Amino acid sequence: MTQFMLEISYLLGSISFIIGLKMLSHPESARKGNIIAAVGMGIAIVGTLVFHKNEAGESIGNIPLILLAILIGTGLGYVMAMRVKMTAMPQMVSLFNGMGGACAAIISIVEFNSHQSQSPGFLSIVFLGLAIGSISFSGSMVAYGKLDGKINDVYSKLLSLTNNALFLVIAGLIVLGIFMPSALGSTSIWLILVLALLYGVLFVMPIGGADMPVVISLLNSFTGVAAAMGGFLYDNSVMLTGGILVGSAGTILTILMCTAMNRSLLNVLIGSFGGGAGGSKGQDGEKVAKEISVTDAAILCAYAQRVCIVPGYGLAVAQAQHTCHEFEKILEDKGVDVYYAIHPVAGRMPGHMNVLLAEADVPYPKLREMEDANPLLSNTDVTIVVGANDVVNPAAETDPSSPIYGMPIIKVDLSKNVIIMKRSMGKGYAGIANELFFMKKSRMLFGDAKDSLSKLIAELKDI
Ligand code: TAP
Repeated sequence: MTQFMLEISYLLGSISFIIGLKMLSHPESARKGNIIAAVGMGIAIVGTLVFHKNEAGESIGNIPLILLAILIGTGLGYVMAMRVKMTAMPQMVSLFNGMGGACAAIISIVEFNSHQSQSPGFLSIVFLGLAIGSISFSGSMVAYGKLDGKINDVYSKLLSLTNNALFLVIAGLIVLGIFMPSALGSTSIWLILVLALLYGVLFVMPIGGADMPVVISLLNSFTGVAAAMGGFLYDNSVMLTGGILVGSAGTILTILMCTAMNRSLLNVLIGSFGGGAGGSKGQDGEKVAKEISVTDAAILCAYAQRVCIVPGYGLAVAQAQHTCHEFEKILEDKGVDVYYAIHPVAGRMPGHMNVLLAEADVPYPKLREMEDANPLLSNTDVTIVVGANDVVNPAAETDPSSPIYGMPIIKVDLSKNVIIMKRSMGKGYAGIANELFFMKKSRMLFGDAKDSLSKLIAELKDI
């Protein structure tokens, strides 16, 4: 009976993960999906604590210690999630992902040391779980440091050669450990642990700081695979389902991000993209961008029939989502038709703009995906670019030598007027100049996006 109840709790957990993941694909259902998956996880944990029995028929021991660990973890997770700024979300994902990798590695070590019979099947799961989990842990920690600006990129040919050699040594040790377990004995597990940890560090070191979201997604998929290994080890269906879902979702997300940036995964991993953001206000070499005053911008918007807002990374930096929604509402009250054009990789993490605008309660029907927004732009009077740069850069279509050539963009230059809100002529993530700023129909509204939007709102109230 207890075994039956345990299986039922795992089944409920697995189903809730699948439903939760499906619901995460839409901003309106994402919050609920997250809660459903978390409840499923809770059911699986409680099921294990209450119903699990080992081969000797004994229940799980150390319950007070387990509960204490759950309490500490829950408390820390809650405080971190409440405190984290929207722009620091990728760091937090990286940190949590690293913890998952570490858990998978620890499971492998514990199981290796507590099993008498060590069949090749068992050893391959243990060693693979250990290597992948350790790489995910140390790689995620370096990714966290880079995103937080604590670690700089390090790239050299020697480093990449060392990485390749290290990878081969780890693979060799795993094969040796599986097929000739007596050759190294218990030393093999520690050797693989240390080398895999080192590999994780060296693997992420050369990758450009701004490419970290792609790398985190990749490491996330590693953690999923490592957790699935744990599922095999314990013959635990919920761990297996969870691991496979994380592994496949992470892989798909990695591929989607690379496609949206028009880059190969290899190009991201080699670390050759991006550059410093420079540029002075209003000028780029010989060219001078035209500015617009807040009053003129407000008048242009107030008398427009249709206005498009293109949010980008700067909206997140300025935390201007609420002010932006207020700006949109005041225009709508004046009879202007307002919509948002959302680029799939605007910002620094998947769905970044959707999350920000959902936080500000912008109605979902106002958001248009890039493919749906582009055909509307030629019928749009004013497009306001709020802290976006690369995702509206025409070089992606016109300059074959540009690093972003081929990346699909929001074609804001099709609209009748373009107002670009940013603080300077500074470059975006790709570190390249943007011709859009110098086009005849473009006007720059310099300043922090939140400040500029607040000033626009004040002007609009007087019109
Ligand atoms: P970016 O091209 O990075 O441009 C953001 C612009 O925001 C900058 O030019 C900056 O100019 C401006 N800005 C910064 N702080 C601001 C503030 N407080 N107020 C107003 N403006 C501010 O952003 P994007 O257009 O969203 O493009 C995203 C880029 O990130 C793409 O190249 C994409 O490939 C890459 N990327 C995205 C992802 C995902 S999954 N979203 C993952 C990896 C890489 P100033 O400094 O002049 O203000």
